[in-house]
Amino acid sequence: MYQTKIAGLGKYVPENVVTNDDLSKLMDTNDEWITERTGIKERRHIKKGDGNSTAVMGVKASKIALERAGISKDDIDLIVFATLSPDYYFPGCGVQVQEMLDIETCPALDVRNQCSGFIYAISVADQFIKTGMYKNVLVIGSENHSGGLDFSTRGRSVSVIFGDGAGAAVLTRSDHNGQGILSTHLHSEGKHALELSLKGPSTNYWVPEIIADNPQGEDIPYYPYMNGQFVFKNAIQRFSEVINEGLQANGLDVQDINMLIPHQANLRISQFVQNKFKLSDDQVFNNIQKYGNTTAASIPIALTEAWEEGKVKDEDVVVLAAFGSGFTWGSAIIKW
Ligand code: ACO
Repeated sequence: MYQTKIAGLGKYVPENVVTNDDLSKLMDTNDEWITERTGIKERRHIKKGDGNSTAVMGVKASKIALERAGISKDDIDLIVFATLSPDYYFPGCGVQVQEMLDIETCPALDVRNQCSGFIYAISVADQFIKTGMYKNVLVIGSENHSGGLDFSTRGRSVSVIFGDGAGAAVLTRSDHNGQGILSTHLHSEGKHALELSLKGPSTNYWVPEIIADNPQGEDIPYYPYMNGQFVFKNAIQRFSEVINEGLQANGLDVQDINMLIPHQANLRISQFVQNKFKLSDDQVFNNIQKYGNTTAASIPIALTEAWEEGKVKDEDVVVLAAFGSGFTWGSAIIKW
């Protein structure tokens, strides 16, 4: 059995900064409400014509990760792409990235697990590397939320939360036993699937004739639906459980955590988890203030920034944890 390490990390966020004040010009909201409820001060949005898309941002983050890993794109054995906002309903973004990076015929797959997507994606990659089937896997989380949100007052409780961006990690076989991904822990609970959801094109909700028949669009749920308080309650419970599960599986204690990188759902969720585990500010990394919630991209963006700032170092115990639509949740325990 082999072990998997993270050999290189990269991130990309669009240049266009959208502040809470900017949003208040589009809808009935304000900086105080958004800051108090979510901790978010600004987020990045793709600007029409800037050339970005979910796959394009994924490629930009991947190029940085590959360079830092010192691994050629031709040595990538598998691409795993996590997103809830693909450029096409089909095919997935994985094959788009493969084409844009000019990689011949390696397998590429998309993971559709929303905020937990990156944890699921590295878990998939880890299994392939552990068994020896593949050596190098490119794992990407990327989202273009701004193209699919309702920026009128009707959609304000959802649209103020999300931002665009991408993060990538090159996972590779570790030469050192005990270094790398120690374990991953995945869960889902489909009975709450509709509490945070968006209907797909095959349900006919996006058929142009239906929209034309109903110009106000009042009854057409083609924007995401979120039962905010229900999501909040479940998130704090599941985050806590899955972090504990990961620690226990490796005989670790809370105080062994050098860095917890929670999915950047909402600063209040991160703070609840931090307080529950009595972690110091140095043990938790948050950047939702700058980027909003970028779902599958939030962990790789945060992990990349933490690493760039020297907050993730050799030998550190790094815990990644996420919860989101599905509901799905998971954690990864990594010895850096
Ligand atoms: N600006 C101003 N007022 C708003 C806004 C806004 N952007 N959005 C909603 N409101 C209003 C509502 O209309 C409501 O007004 P009313 O009392 O007159 O009816 C009032 O604010 C309170 O609304 P609630 O929805 O009850 O507000 P709540 O305190 O629950 O906060 C929030 C909403 C921030 C979404 C909260 O439920 C939450 O944080 N939930 C967690 C969800 C989450 O993190 N989702 C991220 C995606 S999932 C994930 O990543 C895990």
